[in-house]
Amino acid sequence: MTPPRPVPRFGHGSRVPGWDDSVDLSKPPATTPDPATTPVPADLRREIDAAMAKYPDRRSAAIPALHAAQAVHGYCSPLAIDQVAAVMGVTPAYLTSVATFYDMLETDPRPKHDDVYVCTNISCSLLGADELFDAMVAAAAGDAHVHVSSFECLGACDIAPMASVNGEYVGPLTTEDPAQIIEDLRAGRPVLADKQIRYRLSVDPGANPEGPHEFTTPDHRRRTDRAGVGDLEAVTDRLGPSAPVERPPQPPTDGTDR
Ligand code: FES
Repeated sequence: MTPPRPVPRFGHGSRVPGWDDSVDLSKPPATTPDPATTPVPADLRREIDAAMAKYPDRRSAAIPALHAAQAVHGYCSPLAIDQVAAVMGVTPAYLTSVATFYDMLETDPRPKHDDVYVCTNISCSLLGADELFDAMVAAAAGDAHVHVSSFECLGACDIAPMASVNGEYVGPLTTEDPAQIIEDLRAGRPVLADKQIRYRLSVDPGANPEGPHEFTTPDHRRRTDRAGVGDLEAVTDRLGPSAPVERPPQPPTDGTDR
C-alpha cells in the first residue's frame, strides 16, 4: 500500500503561511479616540454610521467600516483606524485586530491596484477553481496593476466557481472569463456585468430592497434557469416580503471595548 503523501507545512508547522505581526507589548494601551478632537470626513462618517445601524452591536460593523476607511485612505492607516474608532466608539486596538486578520484589509500602504481573489475552496475547487486560478494568473501576467490571489471561500458557493474583483462578486466563471475580466478592468467598465452576484434573484425580496429583482440580460435568465433559480419568483410570491427588522438601540460607549 502506498504511504499517504505528507501534508506540506511551513516552518511554524501550519499549512498556511500566516500573516499576523507580533504585538508590541511595550506600547501603552490605546483608548477610544475623542470624537471631538478626531476629524472624520463627512462621507466616511456617514458610511460608518450606516454600517453600524445595520447591527444590534456596533462592533459588528467593524469590517464594512474599515473597508470604507480603506477606500478613503488607500489602506487602513493609523489615521484611518483612529477615525473609524472615533465614530464607532471602540479602541484602535480592536480595529487593528480585525484589520490584521482579514486579507482584504491592508495595514501597509500599497500602490493603487486592482484586486482579484479567486476562490479555491471546496465548492469552487470541485467546479474547476484551480484551472480558473491558473487562467486568471495567466491573463493578468505582466500587468503590475492587477493582483491575483487565491482565497479560501468567499462565501458565495452558490455561484461557484467564483471570484471577487475589487469586491464585486462574479460567477459562475469559466476559464474564458479571466481575459474578459482584465479587458473590463483596463477599460474601466463594470467587470463581467452579466455574472455579477448583485443581479441574481434573491429568495428574500427584503434582503436587497434596492437591488434589481428582474432578470437583467438573456444570459442572466439562462444561467439562473439552469440553476433552477427561475422558480424563486414563485417562492417569493408564496412567502411575501419579509417584515422590517426592529433594531435595539446601540449601547452607550464608555471608552472601552467591553
Ligand atoms: S467555496 Fe468558493 S465561495 Fe465558497
